[in-house]
Amino acid sequence: MHRAVMINEVLQNLRPKAGNIIVDCTIGDAGHTRSICQQIQPAGRLIGIDQDAEALNRASNNLKEYKDLCTLVHDNFRNLDNILDDLKISGADGIIFDLGLSSFQIEMAERGFSFRYPGPLDMRMDRTSQLPAYQLINCLSQDEISKILRTYGEERWSNRIARYIIRARKKAPITTTTQLADIVKKAIPARNWHRRIHPATKTFQAFRIVINQEIEALKQGLTAAIAHLNPGGRVCVISFHSLEDRIVKEKFKNYSRQGVLKIITKKPLIPSRAEISDNRRSRSAKLRVAEKVG
Ligand SMILES: C[S@@+](CC[C@H](N)C(=O)[O-])C[C@H]1O[C@@H](n2cnc3c(N)ncnc32)[C@H](O)[C@@H]1O
Repeated sequence: MHRAVMINEVLQNLRPKAGNIIVDCTIGDAGHTRSICQQIQPAGRLIGIDQDAEALNRASNNLKEYKDLCTLVHDNFRNLDNILDDLKISGADGIIFDLGLSSFQIEMAERGFSFRYPGPLDMRMDRTSQLPAYQLINCLSQDEISKILRTYGEERWSNRIARYIIRARKKAPITTTTQLADIVKKAIPARNWHRRIHPATKTFQAFRIVINQEIEALKQGLTAAIAHLNPGGRVCVISFHSLEDRIVKEKFKNYSRQGVLKIITKKPLIPSRAEISDNRRSRSAKLRVAEKVG
């Protein structure tokens, strides 16, 4: 099961209380949601969103004891405006985003998110709407691939990897995680491999971000979240790479200049050493919090 990251920090900053309406935009395995439900029961309401239908099933199983509080929605949080309108919810007391993937998604080989597990190169969080990664990778130009790797992976070997992908593609289409991981390993000279990080990490991250349009979704979802917060309500965002963190930081800064938000975390909160040693996945987490001005 996925282990919720920075759970104490989230609860201390989101400050859910009995009767509150809270929106979890990335419900996953409902780790954060379960703790929030404990605080808002018996009269509160929890809206849980996920674009992955399998995640919602798992969340629903993990929330049986709180089912009267919870409404689960299969959608992308970029549609938060419509989701809340449909539910006739005009304002929320707290909104949380815990970005990226759950351990469950990463570890399912057939979802194709990880170079560690041989499987189809899929990478879609929402398998009902987006294009699988193998379709994209086999039709992009070398320049397009290189740009994706540079922009979304901050990969310094972007040009070389793109060249190797095109060369491999001429022999046979790239359809599996193992194929892509092997191509990247050949493209980056072994002396430049990081001791503890797999050479294909940045490439997989970059393609995943593009396939799932994660940057656009984050910008739209955050704007909608801020618009729907009640005065005094808080938005918490946990991100896992610098690109996302920069977007959150800039968005909070812009809204605070306009007098809409008060920034609660001048610097992002990070997990304690104990949490990192207990749950390695938490090591790159950053939590930013802002409050809607009354
Ligand atoms: C890190 S997990 C959340 C884990 C959860 N907080 C927990 O404690 O169990 C992120 C979840 O958000 C979902 N997700 C990511 N981007 C999304 C988006 N734009 N719209 C809806 N769901 C999204 C993923 O499918 C995944 O299930």
